[in-house]
Amino acid sequence: MSKHATESTTDVTDHNTEPPANHFLQIDDLSADELAELVSTAAELKRAHHAGESHAVLPNQSLAMLFEKPSTRTRVSFETGMTQLGGHAVYLGPDTTHLDHGEPVADTARALSRYVDAVMARVFDHGALEAMAEYATVPVINGLSDAAHPCQTLADLLTVYEQFGGFEDVTVAWVGDGNNVGQSFAVGAAMAGVDLTMATPEGYGPDEDVLARADASGQVPEVVHDPEAAVEGADVVYTDVWVSMGQEDEREAKLDDFAGFQVNDDLLAAAPEASVMHCLPAHRGEEITGDVLESDRSMVWEQAENRMHTQKALLTHLLGEK
Ligand code: CP
Ligand code: NVA
Repeated sequence: MSKHATESTTDVTDHNTEPPANHFLQIDDLSADELAELVSTAAELKRAHHAGESHAVLPNQSLAMLFEKPSTRTRVSFETGMTQLGGHAVYLGPDTTHLDHGEPVADTARALSRYVDAVMARVFDHGALEAMAEYATVPVINGLSDAAHPCQTLADLLTVYEQFGGFEDVTVAWVGDGNNVGQSFAVGAAMAGVDLTMATPEGYGPDEDVLARADASGQVPEVVHDPEAAVEGADVVYTDVWVSMGQEDEREAKLDDFAGFQVNDDLLAAAPEASVMHCLPAHRGEEITGDVLESDRSMVWEQAENRMHTQKALLTHLLGEK
């Protein structure tokens, strides 16, 4: 999609007279109150799911899921989530639509809006999502871009909430790349009142606008370049891959730059009680060791499951009670 996403978005007319849709491109598209409510709705949906109670609150609603990159968790959690809510999801994988063959994103967005109740998209370039949101008349949900992964942050916050019974006085150390997952977590942590320190190599910290948005949300994370200093005494240590999808050409340089930032038993000696989070997929032996990922302190499977519950809460927030 990125090739054509921002082309030909001018000189078009949308004849649909629907009011503007609520989009979810960034975590702070929600207010802090909405975020807190969404986490508690997700906890209730999780309870209902495990109790086998029906919660088909979005009957006959449809979600288009557009992917420029691979996905395991995002695709399956949205698709099963829509089914459990009584709706339906349509998977549009890489190279399966006209977007990859020259149809402008503006045309795709307006056509999809006539069929489905929401569009979730995973794109290379965040600008493609913004173009989609400009022309779609239904909510557009960010399923990961180069800049942000707000759906991941929803699951991360539910995981922290469950583990600690709330957000107050919880300290998280982010260790690794300050890009999409880290950037959304930085803003979401500020909104929730979670205390965050980010240890990244020089040049891999979050963007200035992310720090400004975290600040506006109540708390700017401390950004350091020493993983041990960040981890010391933390309740949670959170990491992500060093080589994100689309960065394969930078692999050798990034492996060099991130040396010393691996989450392993030596690093965790500075935080003996810390739980460990990872958005997955994990590259064992790079950003995290297999031992740590498989240890009792790892919360990664709960975190992965929570994608489904929080996205169901998001879908009911965006699409419920129309
Ligand atoms: N964490 C995450 O978004 O995983 P997938 O790439 O499998 O969707
Ligand atoms: N930063 C990673 C996250 C994958 C869910 C990537 O963009 O590939």
